[in-house]
Amino acid sequence: MRTLPLFSLIASLTFFVNAQRFVRFISTDNREYYGDAILPAGTTDAAKSTRARVIDGDILGDFKITDRVKAIKKLLAPLPSERVRTVRCVGLNYVAHINETGQVIPKWPILFYKPFTALNSPSDPIPISAGYQTQGDFVSKMDYETELVIVIKKRAFNISDDEALDHVLGYTVGHDVSHRGWQIDRGGQPQPQYSMGKGADGWAPWGPAIVSTNVIGDPQTLGIWTKVNGVTMQNSSTANMIFGVKHLVSFFSMGTTLLPGDVIFTGTPSGVNLGKANPVWLTDGDVVEVGLENVGTCTNALKYV
Ligand SMILES: *[C@@H]1O[C@H](CO)[C@@H](O)[C@H](O)[C@H]1NC(C)=O
Ligand SMILES: *[C@@H]1O[C@H](CO)[C@@H](O)[C@H](O)[C@H]1NC(C)=O
Ligand SMILES: *[C@@H]1O[C@H](CO)[C@@H](O)[C@H](O)[C@H]1NC(C)=O
Repeated sequence: MRTLPLFSLIASLTFFVNAQRFVRFISTDNREYYGDAILPAGTTDAAKSTRARVIDGDILGDFKITDRVKAIKKLLAPLPSERVRTVRCVGLNYVAHINETGQVIPKWPILFYKPFTALNSPSDPIPISAGYQTQGDFVSKMDYETELVIVIKKRAFNISDDEALDHVLGYTVGHDVSHRGWQIDRGGQPQPQYSMGKGADGWAPWGPAIVSTNVIGDPQTLGIWTKVNGVTMQNSSTANMIFGVKHLVSFFSMGTTLLPGDVIFTGTPSGVNLGKANPVWLTDGDVVEVGLENVGTCTNALKYV
């Protein structure tokens, strides 16, 4: 059988051509690299990776996965903030979260934007500046929101649901840091003021890796959770999203071009403080882990600055 070795040769070449988990990191030589993370045995959390195959070129364009392996000293956000021209976020995309906040199920996806200065690494502190801290009778209602994040690889305008995944590089997990004081109490009720409540610098940690659509063929089957100081607060599945990944990409491309590197935060499941009778709002020093199955975790501490 001569076809068998040839087949395995092609299979192994394919393995090196398709990156699985795109990361950006500082290595022990203090230089920055892009890489394809090598997972340690027994975990799919790229935040635990200590090594990666270096990627040469542009992960949003032409690139090559080399056989040079580098140690990971620190994982950075998967792309530099300036390469992400638009951070789109979806409000109200899980029925149980809509219920807990007493709102109605939307007929169309609800969109707001964060500035790209909100993006943060999967491990650095989340800065809380004075205007977002408790002052007098204004309570700093800091909340957590775990979300699946879509990363666009190819321009998309007016595309259909069926075309959507051709435009997606992969998926990662993000933390839509939320301040209910500015979002709602000072939000021009009855309308929420999403961007003032969610758009501050560093309020969108994301990573630890962009996991390729080769690895995650169906993004609507993944466990998604939040832990605050080690205690599970949110624990759901992306199967519960009202508007799935394909529809969000297609809907947002209706009259607006999605560009390579743009990200879409896809809404949070239930379990947030806002939905609780006795909320324990986050404060200085609290550590929040957001996680997505087969992708990994971002773990960031709040820091009053
Ligand atoms: C949401 O609330 C409605 C009405 O109370 C209820 O029928 C439904 O089961 C709830 N769904 C979830 C997912 O909590
Ligand atoms: C959008 O796509 C539809 C369906 O393919 C097509 O009929 C329409 O002309 C397109 N509109 C624009 C502005 O490209
Ligand atoms: C979420 O719930 C599942 C099923 O009950 C459980 O196996 C898993 O450990 C929970 N995850 C977290 C982070 O608590």
